[in-house]
This record gives sequence, C-alpha cells and structure tokens, in this order.
Amino acid sequence: MDQAKSAKQTLTRRAFVRGTGLGAGVIVTAAACTPGAPPGGPGPNGSTPTGPTGPTPELQLSNIQGNILAGFNKDHQRMLFFTFPSGAAAKQLLSTLQEQVANSEEVLAFNSRYKAAASSNSPLPSATWMNLALTHAGLNALGVSRSDLQAFPDSFRQGMRARSGLIGDSGPSAPSNWITSGADHAVVILAADRLSDLSDAARTATSQIKNAGGTITFDQAGAAREDEPGHEHFGFKDGVSQPGIRGVTTPNSPDDPNQGVPGQDLLWPGEFVLGYPTQIPTGDGLNVQPGPLAVSGPAWTTDGSYLVFRRLQQDVAGFQSFVAGTAATAGMSEDLLGAKLVGRYKSGCPLERTEDQPVGLDTQLADPSILDPSILQDDKINHFEFGDDVDGNVCPRSAHVRKTYPRDDQTPTGGEAASQTHRILRRGIPFGASYLPESSSSENAADAAFPHDRGLLFLCYQSSIERQFEFVQNRWSNDEDFPTRGSGEDPIISQNASGAFRIPGSQAQQVTLQGFVTTTGGDYFFQPSIEALQFLATPQPAVAPTQTQPAVQPVPAQPAGQQPPAGQQPTPQPPQGRPPTKGQTVRSQSDGGQNQRGQNQGGQNQAGQNQRGQNQAGQNQAGQNQGSQRQTRRQPRDSA
Ligand code: HEM
Repeated sequence: MDQAKSAKQTLTRRAFVRGTGLGAGVIVTAAACTPGAPPGGPGPNGSTPTGPTGPTPELQLSNIQGNILAGFNKDHQRMLFFTFPSGAAAKQLLSTLQEQVANSEEVLAFNSRYKAAASSNSPLPSATWMNLALTHAGLNALGVSRSDLQAFPDSFRQGMRARSGLIGDSGPSAPSNWITSGADHAVVILAADRLSDLSDAARTATSQIKNAGGTITFDQAGAAREDEPGHEHFGFKDGVSQPGIRGVTTPNSPDDPNQGVPGQDLLWPGEFVLGYPTQIPTGDGLNVQPGPLAVSGPAWTTDGSYLVFRRLQQDVAGFQSFVAGTAATAGMSEDLLGAKLVGRYKSGCPLERTEDQPVGLDTQLADPSILDPSILQDDKINHFEFGDDVDGNVCPRSAHVRKTYPRDDQTPTGGEAASQTHRILRRGIPFGASYLPESSSSENAADAAFPHDRGLLFLCYQSSIERQFEFVQNRWSNDEDFPTRGSGEDPIISQNASGAFRIPGSQAQQVTLQGFVTTTGGDYFFQPSIEALQFLATPQPAVAPTQTQPAVQPVPAQPAGQQPPAGQQPTPQPPQGRPPTKGQTVRSQSDGGQNQRGQNQGGQNQAGQNQRGQNQAGQNQAGQNQGSQRQTRRQPRDSA
C-alpha cells in the first residue's frame, strides 16, 4: 500500500477475544493469533514499530523447514537430487536425513544473530543447513497411501516436465533438452557460509544416500558471484523484493503497520505454508483480516510448502550484446535500457521513483543511487508503486519486476489484493562462473550451441504451484498482452520471447526480444514439516489388521522415559492438520485456484533477516562486512 492510501485508512487495533474450545495450534483463533503484537521485537535503529492492525498468526516455526520462511541466504549451496532405495530402506534413509533438517526457528535466529554481528562489525557466526523436499514419485517410494497420493494437486502430481507446455518450456527449453533427471524422488538442499563446510556436508549426505542404497541422480552447486555478490549473471542485484509475512516479518514501516520495511506488504503465511490463513483476493489489498486456511493434499501437509526448482541457463554474452546494440539504435544509455527490461537498475534501484528519493534525481537520466546511495537501503529500495505510471512511461508494464509483481496496478487479472495472491518466496542462487568479457579464456569460449553454463538456480516456495509460480510464469510473464494489449513478454524469463517489447514514454521504442534464458532442468517438490518427515520415515504396520488381532494392541501406560516392550510400539500416526476455526473457511489449493482467484502479487525483503550477498537487499553492507571472511577459493563449476 502506498502512504497516501494507508493514511486514508483509519487502522485501529482490533481487540481479539480469546476463543474457547479450540485445540492447540489452531490458526486464527485467539490462541494462535495475538492481537497486534509485532513479531521479532523492536525494529532496527531502536525504532518501535507499530504492530499490525489485525491479529498476528502464531506459526509453528520449529516445525517448518528453514529455507521456507527464513531463507538460508548462504553464499555456497548444493542440491543433491536422488532416488530412494526400494522397500524399507527408503524410510531408513529418510530417517537418517531428516535428523539433519534445519527448521525456520533456528535459521531465523541465526539470521538475526548474523545481521547483528555484521552491523556491529563483530565476528560473523557461521552455520551449515540442510533441507529436504520430495517429489510425488518420492512420496510413492516412501509408501504413502494411494488416497493420500491422490489428494495432492495436479501440478505436483504431474511434475514440471509434464507441465512444460503450460509454462512455455519449448524449443531449447523443452524437457527433452534438460540435463536434470526426470525421475527424482527427493532433493537435499545444503547451504553453508564456507565452501569447505558445504563440501563436508555434501560428502556426508552423499555417502548416507549411497550407503543406504539410494542413487544420486544430479548434483548441482550454486554460489554467490565472487565478483558481484548478490547480483545475478546479467549483472542485476537479485533478491531485493520479497513478501513480508505476518507472524514472521517485523512490522517496521513508520507509516503503515501492515508492512515490514516500507513498501513491503505483510501477507498471511498461508500464501507460503499450508495450514495458515491466506490472503483475500478482493478489496483494497490491505488484508488486515485473515482469509481461508491454505489446505492442499493430506492433513499431514500442514506446515509444509511446495518448492519449484528451475535450472535457468543465462546467455550473458548474448544479453550484453543485445543491450548494447539496442541501446545504440534507441539512442538510450545501456544502463537505462537494461533498467527498462528489468524494472530496476543493476544496483537494484527501482526505475519508479521511490517515496524517499530526493526531488531532482531523475530515474530516466541515470541510476539515482549513484548520487544518493541511501536509496538502496532496506527501508527505501522497495518503497514505490506502479499505479501512477499507468502507461509505463517510467517503468514499462512488461519489465520483469512489473510483470512478476504488478503491485497496485489494475490489471486484467485483478487489482492489488488479487495480485498479492500470486506472490512467491524466492530462494535462488547463481550457478557457474561469472562471464568476463575481457577474458579470452576457455571459460568464455563457445563450446556448445549454448556456450556458457552459468545461470540461476531458481527456487521458490508457495502454497499452490498453480496459483503462484505457474500463474506468474504463464499468465503474466509469457503473455505479451498482459497487462495491456501489446505490452510485450517478460524480457527476462518469457520462454516465448521473440516478440515485441514496448518501451513507452519520451524515449519510446519497440524492441524485438530475443531469448537469453533457457530452462535446462527443474521439478516440483513438496517440502514437508519436520513432524511429517518423521512420520514418513517411520515404518508403518505391514500386516493388515484382522479380527482376532487388532492392529494396535492397547499399550499399558509407561513410566516417563520408559519405552513400551517390543511389539507394543504404537502405530505411527500422521501429524494432523489444524482444524479450521469455527467460521473459518478452508481454501483448497488442489483446484488450480488461479482462475477463480483474483490476481496480483507483491514483494520485498524480510526485514531483519537479510544477510548475505546473493539474494538479499541490504546485502551490500553485509557483503562488505563479510569481506574478510569471504572464501577466496574459486567455486567449482556446477557438476552438470
Ligand atoms: C535467470 C532468470 C531470472 C533472472 C535473471 C531474474 C532476475 C531478477 C531481478 C534482477 C529481479 C529484481 C530484484 C529483486 O527484486 O529481486 C527479479 C525480481 C523478481 N523475479 Fe526474477 N529473475 C529470473 C527468474 C525469475 C522467475 C522464473 C520468476 C518467476 C516465475 C521470477 C520472479 C521474480 C519476482 C516475483 C521478482 C520480484 C518482483 C517484485 O516483487 O518487485 N524471476 N528477478
């Protein structure tokens, strides 16, 4: 919400009466939502943020995997894709791996410690994290019941390869050209501050998988760029805009209690984690009150999230020469043309004027952060909207960031409230060495139809793949007529990009796009809660119950700490989803909900959690402070 809009609203704290008769962990009851208490304590710089005006959901952070809500934000990451061994060994392997899985509570706590250390120039803490996600085939290999398998939404059941037609992966991006395996059961995501720690963790996980009889199908390394930490390979700062999350992100906007840092709207956590309230896609977008609970798949999916992984190869040389050639023809600086394509300058500074930008700095002449670097600070860099730039004279309506999050734009798929239901938590990291134009080394030499194996490991979390990732890719980025007829495709990620891209305004141009991003792999995963991982790893009774022998023998009460005798272990029960509160509706995520819902999404940083180079606003500062600890060893090329 912009300031003017929020000023118009008289937002009073709602008193929430403690409900009765509701079980622990029930969401959107007074037991699970505290009225207006800002999470995370005081904001930066000693400021006292105002609490959100609606209830604050209480999340089971220790049950939610860490990369989902906190983000690992490490400069060194590795993805180990694998298949389970058959039979009981699959559960044994999962049992071994799940013990190492980091949860959101510990990663959030670490990220806060890290940020505090970085801002006080204290020694930086380090950590190595693991998360684990499963494909539908992986759940099958773990013996999940047929009815539970069928309860998952189509997108996840079918997987990314089968959905390639929908999301535009054709030609060079067609699955037949992908280098990732199409038969994965699971992926282990590892992240560390030091490359040596990451290598140790990868070695351990690899031997655990292999020793258990599993097979590594693909091993993918990712790393922040050494020459430009925090920037993707085309040179633009990445990870600048992330949604704020109620109950996780500290409200810290002086003008709007429903924002994290200014411009970062707080969304209901059910947009990203199952079992929590979602956004309401109608109205003014403020969404102070919770929408229906996010439900998708069996009850034990609560506290889990869907993960989209895409291995996106970037043709940096091609992009650079396209920008140089087109800018020359258009009589525009290369910097400005690049910003018109992305919606931000390479520094991350938005093309739209931010609320805090000094008058007189013109984004159409040059990147204003050159004269005023404070624009790049966390509390300023996302403080803008698009609504006053209806024609796209400042930021083209098909620029990457405007396509993928139209903010307060009115679009054919809805207004701001609707767009907020299509947002994603991005957790990507570059792979491959930086392209060095001046180098004639073999690293830059053309050795294949697609010469440089570098790009982005795109990862994002959401509660509905259909309504979030697929909607953004298909309905917004790939559609040349979104948001207006002929605005053009997303110049960065459209997989049909051969059409026109319209730059309106005083330097109006019609640019013919080329494709510089090729999909070379990917899949859809479900990232279960910690409890669900434990449940999936627990052997289920192999023998069907008979009349003479009940499946579960009554287990006599045991003194504390004493195990029941062998043969009398209770049958493992799946973790139950939280029942909706009386009057609370449930939003099923298995219906491809995008069509029935409004539209629009949003973005920005999670205040107080930014940390390192690769994907985060505020990482300039963190990057500098970390300079002394940054690994100087060259990151090996990805193992593909
Ligand atoms: C190689 C591929 C990609 C590149 C180079 C790229 C680059 C960028 C850059 C430079 C930004 C602006 C900085 C920021 O806010 O983080 C950005 C933002 C964003 N990108 Fe991408 N991106 C890629 C793929 C994707 C994909 C596949 C999607 C989703 C389908 C996506 C969705 C978004 C979203 C939602 C934002 C934030 C928009 C906002 O909230 O303002 N990106 N991307």
